[in-house]
Amino acid sequence: MADPVHALSRALQAAITAAFGAEHAATDPSLRRSSHADYQANAAMALGKRLGKPPREVAAAIVAHLEVGGICRKVEIAGPGFVNLTLDDAYLVGELAETAGSGQLGIAPAAQPETVIVDYSGPNAAKEMHVGHLRSTIIGDALARVLEALGHRVIRQNHLGDWGTPFGMLIEHMLDLGEAAASEELSVGDLDAFYRQARAKFDGDPAFAERSRRRVVRLQGGDEQTLALWRQLVRESTRYFESVYRRLGVTLTAADFAGESFYNPMLADVIAELTAKGLARESEGALCVFPAGFTGKGGEPLPLIVRKQDGGYGYPTTDLAAIRHRLTTVGAQRLIYVVGAPQSQHFAMVFTTAREAGWLAPPARAEHVAFGSVLGADKKMFKTRSGDTVKLSDLLDEAVERGLKKVREKSPDLDAEAAGAVARAVGVGAVKYADLSSDRIKDYVFDWDRMLALEGNTAPYLMYAHARVRSIFRKGGVASESARGAGFTLAEPVERALALELLRFGAVLEDVAATLEPHRLCGYLYELAGSFTTFYERCPVLKAESDEVRRSRLALCDLTAEVLAKGLGLLGIEAPERM
Ligand code: ARG
Repeated sequence: MADPVHALSRALQAAITAAFGAEHAATDPSLRRSSHADYQANAAMALGKRLGKPPREVAAAIVAHLEVGGICRKVEIAGPGFVNLTLDDAYLVGELAETAGSGQLGIAPAAQPETVIVDYSGPNAAKEMHVGHLRSTIIGDALARVLEALGHRVIRQNHLGDWGTPFGMLIEHMLDLGEAAASEELSVGDLDAFYRQARAKFDGDPAFAERSRRRVVRLQGGDEQTLALWRQLVRESTRYFESVYRRLGVTLTAADFAGESFYNPMLADVIAELTAKGLARESEGALCVFPAGFTGKGGEPLPLIVRKQDGGYGYPTTDLAAIRHRLTTVGAQRLIYVVGAPQSQHFAMVFTTAREAGWLAPPARAEHVAFGSVLGADKKMFKTRSGDTVKLSDLLDEAVERGLKKVREKSPDLDAEAAGAVARAVGVGAVKYADLSSDRIKDYVFDWDRMLALEGNTAPYLMYAHARVRSIFRKGGVASESARGAGFTLAEPVERALALELLRFGAVLEDVAATLEPHRLCGYLYELAGSFTTFYERCPVLKAESDEVRRSRLALCDLTAEVLAKGLGLLGIEAPERM
């Protein structure tokens, strides 16, 4: 593992154990970057409190037992009990050379690769994807990419809402319109209009409502003609969703669609099993499970309805079938659900039920990756001016248009084709990055100007930073690859700071994989770009004082560009070579 923090943490933990006993083995060494040395460890503070000893004394005991030969050149105690650690130059340069030379950029494959299912996007057929689906799509895709980069087997699952009572009215509406006209409307992504028209007829026309109800019965009964109409409806909307994924540069494909209907044949079995295990029982005509620990306002146990009074199955039943399938048939160890925060209780109840049924047992685990809402400038739900849900394809059109304006302003000499490609990368990248860079659980304000700004923690800033590093090579007439084998000499503190930042990349990805928080990667890339800027302001690269220093600095530049591009790539964002 390239990040020296790993080796140092291990050494510090060993020293703490040696000094104070195995019961303190798990103490967090609390390592961070320091302005006085490369790192400082603050463990002595918390440990001192726990042991009732002055932290300086604790620090001295840690240092007395610390074995960092070959890693550190200097270890000092400072202030009330900080342990300051300065890396050995040869060690630092060696780690850097390995990071650059292996082509892995410090990304180490997981010691125990897992089969991970990432459930994301999950729009509803014949309905416009709303911004919640957009968030799920963007966050889920970044997580899938990061987990894959760490060597896990990632299975993407698009839990499309493609089943249930609305399909009765949607099919009847399709028949009223004529199949050709309906297909046309759906394939261009006019999904909301289609849905609204059907809904209006259902609410206002009793005969239509009756037809719709009969249609649902035929659909659930497996009537072939009805199924064919349903398939057509689903096909047209998935085609639209796929076009959105393509434009977004999202890795979901048709093969990843496993909608609610996929679990249909399993529902009866699931219910039989839950009943046999004594988990499901009748309540007010419906069949319910009552997972432990969930109660309503009056303290009464809260039900998860697995079969409704009318005999139909709903969203909870499907999710129970899905989790059972994923754990017992697919054999996944980690289940990740990227769905908005309002569904937290639903997933908590599904997970508890799965545990009670014995499907979900360690080492397997299930996690709800919840996220907040997208707000407009008025801090209310993000809507169009007229109050409609924002149509995703319109949003993407606008992103590209605004991206093009930015590119024209910043790089007027790019030819039309190059400018178009960069504009797409900038516009779409800005939308994605704005979503990924904020702590996902919080709401965030959708603000075109801020997300497209060239300063601050934005996609355009990082993309320009990357292109600027690449431009050094073009200006010097040097091929990036030729910089790769060079040795590093780190004389200046800012070179050292950049090097330490570069070595963090692999650990940051592991952190994202553990916490499922992509904003940590964004924050890292932003800091890396900042370290690079400081380095570049102080250290001439092409005009360095010697050949050796020039080669080393070019190698630092190359590694920076590689890490920026790879990091953006893992967020699903392109990094053009020139802008
Ligand atoms: N279709 C659902 C919705 O629009 C999201 C599906 C999330 N995934 C799941 N396994 N329930 O709210």
